[in-house]
Amino acid sequence: MRDWKGEIEKLKKERNAVILAHNYQLPEVQDIADFVGDSLGLSIEASKTDAQVIVFCGVFFMAETAKILSPQKVVVIPDQEAGCPMADMITAPQLVDLKNRHPEAAVLCYVNTKAEVKAECDFCCTSANATKVVEKGLNSASSIIFVPDQYLASYVSRKTGREFIVWPGYCPIHAAISGEDVERARELHPQAEVLAHPECRPEVTEKADQVLSTEGMCRYVKSSPADEFIIGTEVGILHRLQKENPTKHFYPVKEEAVCPDMKKINLEKVAFALQEMKYQVELPPPIIQKAALSIERMLQFT
Ligand code: 13P
Ligand code: SF4
Repeated sequence: MRDWKGEIEKLKKERNAVILAHNYQLPEVQDIADFVGDSLGLSIEASKTDAQVIVFCGVFFMAETAKILSPQKVVVIPDQEAGCPMADMITAPQLVDLKNRHPEAAVLCYVNTKAEVKAECDFCCTSANATKVVEKGLNSASSIIFVPDQYLASYVSRKTGREFIVWPGYCPIHAAISGEDVERARELHPQAEVLAHPECRPEVTEKADQVLSTEGMCRYVKSSPADEFIIGTEVGILHRLQKENPTKHFYPVKEEAVCPDMKKINLEKVAFALQEMKYQVELPPPIIQKAALSIERMLQFT
C-alpha cells in the first residue's frame, strides 16, 4: 500500500501548500489536514493563510470562496466534481430576476452558492453567523431576500422575528432527516442531547436541544456536561467529535445522512492535486471583486 500520508507531507512542503478540510470529509482526509472546520472557519483560514497554495478538501463553492478571498493564491480542489446540490439550486440570472421583482430588498445569500450568485448579493452568511448578519448587518433593511436555503431562512426567521423573501432551495441530505428520526433516536438514547444543523427541516430544529453549525457542534460538545449526543447533520462530523471527545458518545440521528459529494475526495486525490496542481479554481476577476464584497461584509460578523 502506498504511503499517501508521507507523499502528501512531502509535496505539501515542496509546494508551500496548506490543506483545508471541511468537517464532513472522510476521516483520513480530516486527519492529514492543517485545518478542519465549518464554512465560516474555512473562509477565515483561507483569508489569512501565508501558504502559496490552498488544497481545498470540501465542495466546489467552498473552494471558490477560498479563491475569492485569496485571488493571488493557487486554490486546488482534488475532485472538481465535488459540488453541492443546494448551491446548484439557484443561478445568477434567477437571483437577478428575483431582485428585479423586489427592488427594495437587501439580498442575503448563504455561502452554499456559486460565486456568480454571491456577486449579486449584498451580504453573504454561513450557518454559524446567519442570525448575527441579519440582526446586525441588515437591521435597517426594510425587506430581505434570503437564498437559497428555505430551511436555514425559516430557522433564522424564527430566531430573529424577521420575514424573508425565500428561495425554495434545500440540502437533500439534511432535508431527508425527519422529526420521527429525532423521536426514534431520543427513545433509543434518552439521556442524549440532540444537536441539529439549521439546514434541517423546522420539524427537526424545533425538536433539537441546540441548533448549531458544524463547528458550533464541535465547540458545544466540549463545553457540555452531557456524555451522549444525537447528531443531526452529515455523519462525517462524528469522526472529529469522537476524536476530540474520546470519553463521550455520539449517535447519528440518521446513519444514511451522508453527502456523496463530500466523500469524493480521498488521500490519493489529495496527493494528485499537490503533484499536478489540479484542479485549479479560476474565476473571472469582476466576479471575484463583487463576490468578495459580500463575503468581507460577512466576515465582520464572525
Ligand atoms: P457548516 O458551515 O455548518 O459546516 O455547513 C456546511 C454545509 O455544507 C452543511 O451542509
Ligand atoms: Fe451541500 Fe448538503 Fe452536501 Fe452540505 S451536506 S455540501 S449543503 S449537499
